[in-house]
Amino acid sequence: MSTPAEDAIRAEIVAHGPIPFARFMALALGHATGGYYTGPRARPTRGGDFLTAPELHPVFGAALARQVAEAWERLARPDPFTLVEYGAGAGTLALAILAGLRDDRSPLADALVYAPIELNPHRLAELEERAASAGLPLAAPRTDLVHPDGAVQVAGAVLANEFLDALPVHAVEIHEGRPREVHVCVTPAGELEELLLAPSTPAIAARLDALATCGATFEEGQRAELCLGLDGWVADVAATLSSGIVLVIDYGAPALRLYGPRHRAGTLMTYRGHAADASPDAPYRDIGERDITAHVDTTTLARLLDAAGFDVHGETTQAELLVGCGLEDLLERERIRAVDPAAALLLRSAVMRLLDPRHLGGFRAVLAGRGIHVAPPLRGLAYRSAVGRPRY
Ligand SMILES: C[S@@+](CC[C@H](N)C(=O)[O-])C[C@H]1O[C@@H](n2cnc3c(N)ncnc32)[C@H](O)[C@@H]1O
Repeated sequence: MSTPAEDAIRAEIVAHGPIPFARFMALALGHATGGYYTGPRARPTRGGDFLTAPELHPVFGAALARQVAEAWERLARPDPFTLVEYGAGAGTLALAILAGLRDDRSPLADALVYAPIELNPHRLAELEERAASAGLPLAAPRTDLVHPDGAVQVAGAVLANEFLDALPVHAVEIHEGRPREVHVCVTPAGELEELLLAPSTPAIAARLDALATCGATFEEGQRAELCLGLDGWVADVAATLSSGIVLVIDYGAPALRLYGPRHRAGTLMTYRGHAADASPDAPYRDIGERDITAHVDTTTLARLLDAAGFDVHGETTQAELLVGCGLEDLLERERIRAVDPAAALLLRSAVMRLLDPRHLGGFRAVLAGRGIHVAPPLRGLAYRSAVGRPRY
């Protein structure tokens, strides 16, 4: 049975011809009424389709609170200090950060202002209510990535947890040494089908050229996803933050790995009901009811941040980031609190997943900043091992 997002996609194809996969993904996830991320259902929760680290346990936010607090200290405690969160959902991460700061008796708790950016109006309404009852002052929430004209820049911390992997990607395949772009069409029988056409934008060739200068090469027949939206996102962050840190945590890898032998078919993945599906037709099933993601290219992210005037402090795994932020001692605190067996069990299983390199522990964490010296390393990077360091 067709869904409202699928109807909108079909109507656009019928009116204008085949659309780039990036446009298909933008509508499947963000269509105003039928998109995966615009409806009333809470997606990244136990009852939803996948579980993100902030929704898993507040200990994740308590650990990040320490990284945010360190940045604030290194900037000589600006007041206010704004937590800018992209893809804020219902504000679970920000609330856990605030609670962590209060538990640590950090005076940052009183200087913190929250500026969420979230396209889902249902989540935003929930977030506003939760922030008010927690006593967290809100800056004007935003629903898109368009930086408002005349908006003031802030001192603060920009967070993006499992946000960039949801930005639409252009899918390309290399044939006879040249990129062909995956488009989506409707067959005479009425099926949605992929079609390889010439690239829809010169930005594809420009990104491939930039990747080549980093040593990333593409084989004949290889499929790859390119997130051209990274440029606009970094520009938005640069226009937002005058001083502070940028912390991105996501599925991802440096370009040499992301576009290397292990991922010759790309990294496109869908999630529904806690089941991951990487089969080629998965994005075209239950359109608008299934998450679609692709790994973040952390090399391009770091390059763009550097070009926008940020100092790239480094990249590591989520597990190492959390250990550097003091997860072990936070665990002790949580263990003492978790008096009933169910809470203790929840904590234990959450920590396993947060640190497991095959699960959330293997996520990439990129730290950049403005106005903060790269040495000594920020605490989130202090435990970087050979695994955490990118092999560019
Ligand atoms: C995978 S969820 C992660 C939510 C939260 N960061 C977490 O870790 O639990 C992605 C979030 O980003 C939001 N989102 C996706 N695309 C967006 C966009 N272009 N602008 C603002 N928010 C967006 C979605 O509505 C959703 O709340």
